[in-house]
Amino acid sequence: MAKQGSAPTYWDYLKLDRLLQLQNGMEPDDARLASDELHFIVVHQIYELWFKLVLRELRQGRDQLAAPRVPEETLPHVVHHLRRVNEILKLAADQFRVVETLTPQDFLDFRDKLVPASGFQSFQMREIELLLGLEEEQRRAIGGSDPIDHIRKMAHESPGGRDAWARVEAARQEKTLRSALHDWLHRTPIQASAPSDPGDAAVVDAFMREYMAAFEEQHGAQTEHLVQAGLGSAGALRDRFESNVRRAREFLLAEDVTENQRERRRRIRAGILFIESYRDLPLLAWPRLLVDTIVELEELLVIWRSRHARMAERVIGRRVGTGGSPGVDYLDQTAQYRIFVDLWSVRTLLLPREALPALRDPTFYGFAV
Ligand code: HEM
Repeated sequence: MAKQGSAPTYWDYLKLDRLLQLQNGMEPDDARLASDELHFIVVHQIYELWFKLVLRELRQGRDQLAAPRVPEETLPHVVHHLRRVNEILKLAADQFRVVETLTPQDFLDFRDKLVPASGFQSFQMREIELLLGLEEEQRRAIGGSDPIDHIRKMAHESPGGRDAWARVEAARQEKTLRSALHDWLHRTPIQASAPSDPGDAAVVDAFMREYMAAFEEQHGAQTEHLVQAGLGSAGALRDRFESNVRRAREFLLAEDVTENQRERRRRIRAGILFIESYRDLPLLAWPRLLVDTIVELEELLVIWRSRHARMAERVIGRRVGTGGSPGVDYLDQTAQYRIFVDLWSVRTLLLPREALPALRDPTFYGFAV
């Protein structure tokens, strides 16, 4: 041990003596493990360390964004934290290449002794999902394999179980990144109007009406173009046009949301639409980077899930998982989760720059006239 006050050494600073003693799995020491099992343990531990850092970065970004007023100079910090998460997720997906050096038979040599241990019990993964804002209904939609319930049931089965469950329970109570993002998006100045300004609702309504008219015109022209080109039956193409316009209107009016949330959600969606549409305006430069970074984060998480599923399919085929889920079929279904649904949905409605409603006050957003 380093003496107090003395300069730290590399090994003391990183607690290497302890760290390198932790790869023994269920054996008294790791010399008793075959190298395939040591590899399996090391890779999982590395992932859990990345998850630890991801959680720290997400919480920092969330806290900064959740402030009642987010100063302009704070947004680059939020983006910075989330970009670090994105780089980790890219690396984490790539890391499955190392896992894939384990052949199916190598894994079968020690797989049975793992049961019921599984990544299913990774409480840090659950914390990440909860912190981002994954809703329980989405999880429940995957019949019969609720990992949170699984952790709850296992809480009494092992010494670490109670802590694992306590962490999941605590994460359930936390403010989510999605909710912090929504609070912030709700305050987006739309046509230079903020929610606290008198007449804001009328300004937002007028913007949405103009936007929908432009969308209908643009989409209608596209449909007629397809009809002229003979790409499908005119009736079917026009029906699809009608249904797309209806869906766009329902989305912008937030008709899918409960009545007490509708007004707020409408303004949030209008805010996203405004940031995405007028993304070249100087004042919107950081907001749009933030939105892009969060969309990328979710995309990378989906890629991680799909990559994990392909790796698992390569190693165990379609058998049930050690955690008792249907295995790869379950994993593939988790790749359907979407947390930042509105950020994705708005993309269907975007218009070319020349079709956008005119800006009322370009100077407000930093354009000199
Ligand atoms: C041979 C390697 C691996 C195989 C065959 C495998 C297979 C599986 C399977 C079948 C599941 C579904 C749950 C179950 O019934 O067990 C699962 C879940 C999971 N695995 Fe793996 N896995 C492997 C390696 C890894 C690694 C290296 C990680 C990195 C942390 C990981 C993280 C997870 C996570 C987080 C879940 C939960 C997914 C969810 O519920 O959303 N797995 N794994």
